[in-house]
Amino acid sequence: MQPIKGFSKLSKAGKIEWVTRFFQDPEAAYTTLSGYWHHDAATQKQHDEFIENTLTNFYMPYGVAPNFLINGKLYAIPMVIEESSVVAAASKSAAFWLNRGGFKTTVLSTKKIGQVHFIWHGDGDKLRAFMPELEQKLISGTQSLTANMRKRGGGITGITLRDKTLDEPGYYQLHATFETRDAMGANFINSNLEEFARILRYELETDPRFTATERELTVVMCILSNYTPECLVRCEVSCPIDQLADGDDYTNEEFVEKFTRAIRIATIEPYRATTHNKGIMNGIDSVVLATGNDFRAVEACAHTYAARDGQYRSLTRVDVSNGIFRFWLDIPLALGTVGGLTGLHPMVKFSHEMLGNPNAEELMQITAAVGLAQNFAAVKSLVTTGIQKGHMKMHLLNILNQLEATEQEKERAKIYFSDKVISFQGVASYMKKMRGMADDEISPDAGTAQA
Ligand code: MEV
Repeated sequence: MQPIKGFSKLSKAGKIEWVTRFFQDPEAAYTTLSGYWHHDAATQKQHDEFIENTLTNFYMPYGVAPNFLINGKLYAIPMVIEESSVVAAASKSAAFWLNRGGFKTTVLSTKKIGQVHFIWHGDGDKLRAFMPELEQKLISGTQSLTANMRKRGGGITGITLRDKTLDEPGYYQLHATFETRDAMGANFINSNLEEFARILRYELETDPRFTATERELTVVMCILSNYTPECLVRCEVSCPIDQLADGDDYTNEEFVEKFTRAIRIATIEPYRATTHNKGIMNGIDSVVLATGNDFRAVEACAHTYAARDGQYRSLTRVDVSNGIFRFWLDIPLALGTVGGLTGLHPMVKFSHEMLGNPNAEELMQITAAVGLAQNFAAVKSLVTTGIQKGHMKMHLLNILNQLEATEQEKERAKIYFSDKVISFQGVASYMKKMRGMADDEISPDAGTAQA
């Protein structure tokens, strides 16, 4: 392969021609790509235009988890995820809590943050004294940018000066907080920040209180922060401990002991906390993707929040007192229900409608509920039956699909492997034997299931 100049200027066909020429069978590669184009040219064009250099679409499964009772309202929740068992776990957890009061959620705050990072070598006290005046100028100088947002009840909620000169010579920040209502607000915040930087420069250059050196300003960058610890939602479930055990394998007390110990371990042990929180994000990201939000931003924020006291810890907490089991998740979720993909992508629109067109605060609550449900299901399995039991069912199905098993073969394989460890080799060998035999010759130990 050679570097290419002007790739973005090529037509879509030209780009595909360039990419596929490196394949063993360029024609087959073209067929694969074009096989994923939408049959409706206008819809395909819309997808092409979401990003740059689009060749085709990349499918992800779109599932649904029903029976989520959140603040007394029932939801069926769309989930986009490639990993098996996640939708099943969410659904199972939703059904469990449906009969135990459901999920209770509260939005604790909805503040977003943006910063102008700048270098300035002047008298810090003078700048601090100027700040109240500057804040007014920044707010009035961005009136035209904030007009629409203010009409919707949002806008700039505060601007402070942060002195970071002990960490980096001359480094200061204008640290601004915003309320962006139902928008995720990235464009709104970034536009305001760039305007802040222009106003700051103008003020320093023209105000006679500043010396010649103090007129020098280096704006490093103007950008929102994806760390939004004050855009926070809490979701919790609770029930009397005597309603917890739903199997014969353990008592309520045993369950409480196992479960609470697992949460304590995820709170004190970063190796476990990472996997524990990954399970929460299985639920969160699926809803974030289905609703057209930015899952990278949500991920980055969640993990910073999980490490807010200096050690990476579980995002969920548990408490058992006076016979009541209470399990909750606090998570910052900067989500939008307007702007971005929400009004464009047909499946994103579909998801919003499935959820009853929630506003951003409702979507935060719904998403948090799926994260908590996911974590409850994962930890419950881990400390009782073990995680592989559920996973293996889907793993078996994936292997059977790869081996192009018929529905009848799948049914037989499911029965045969119900009490065996599943591996590709074991399933392949079982299938081979089954296919080479007449129906009545298939013996229960035809395969060689192995670890
Ligand atoms: C797998 O995607 C997620 C889990 O590992 C989460 C956990 O361990 O809590 C099952």
